[in-house]
Amino acid sequence: METSIATAIAHPNIALIKYWGDREPRLRLPANGSISMNLAGLTTRTRVSFDDALSSDELILNGAPAHGEALERAGLVLERLRQMTGVRRYARVESVNNFPMGAGVASSASAFAALALAASKAAGLELDESELSRLARLGSGSACRSVPGGYVEWLAGTSDEDSYAYSIAPPEHWALADCIAIVSRAHKQVVSRQGHVLAATSPIQAARLADTPRRLSWCRSAILERDFEALAEIAELDSNLMHAVMLTSTPRLLYWQPATLALMQAVVEWRGAGLPVFYTIDAGPNVHVICPAETAEQVASRLKEIPGVQEVLTALTGGAARLE
Ligand code: DP6
Repeated sequence: METSIATAIAHPNIALIKYWGDREPRLRLPANGSISMNLAGLTTRTRVSFDDALSSDELILNGAPAHGEALERAGLVLERLRQMTGVRRYARVESVNNFPMGAGVASSASAFAALALAASKAAGLELDESELSRLARLGSGSACRSVPGGYVEWLAGTSDEDSYAYSIAPPEHWALADCIAIVSRAHKQVVSRQGHVLAATSPIQAARLADTPRRLSWCRSAILERDFEALAEIAELDSNLMHAVMLTSTPRLLYWQPATLALMQAVVEWRGAGLPVFYTIDAGPNVHVICPAETAEQVASRLKEIPGVQEVLTALTGGAARLE
């Protein structure tokens, strides 16, 4: 008999080369390839049960029924699975994060990676990593990067078939840490989905896209060679480029708070003084400060002293999505 219940765990990821803008928003085919590292310790645990008695999909997020966009996005993943199996059964999805929502770490990547794995297993399918990554991508672009482990590249591809992520190197290849300086816990004013649409209105986006192959290969080599200085330069450049696009979109997107800028300046100053650190910032005011794992404690305590920093979460390089 087919398995109809399964549970999976996945980690969020932080992009070192950012995904910003879509070629095809419906299938989440990105305007450019991207590279990230998974964040160990932070997890989403998702249980999926397909049930003949249900007349529609149900989503329970951290114990509360969810509707609207979150349910619609889960439906995209579940509907693809129904097409693949030819079985029209609805599912109950229960998803719990071990990190608070709105704590400055997006949960959509880990949530849709865990959903793709748990739901495909519950539907009786044994998908390989690239198929799972493609499935997760339908729910949230960056989720495709939370399927493989460690350091991960999302190949932009040309269609649904060839737009997926693979692991450049496993977590044990390089022990880095992400010290996340939380400046604000408020929910984003403009969610990534709308931001991706606005990217094309910036005159800077075309230049950013044209230069992406160079940044991807620089970042890939820095990871493979464990060259921290090279990774620092390329990741900060890439983050600045994405924020330059955001700032010059119509309407303009300005995610930074005064403390965000104070953190950027402090990190660059520390690196100048010999401490291996760099910053990268997503669609929000919080600053991800990457450093070798052995200096994470020192970096976290320095970050806490900067006015405006409410809290620092530390995550080491994380593994792949897995079944429980
Ligand atoms: C700034 O993957 O969150 O974090 O597909 O709409 O869910 P959706 O977008 P999402 O966009 C991520 C944007 C980013 C950069 C990145 O993670 O690459």
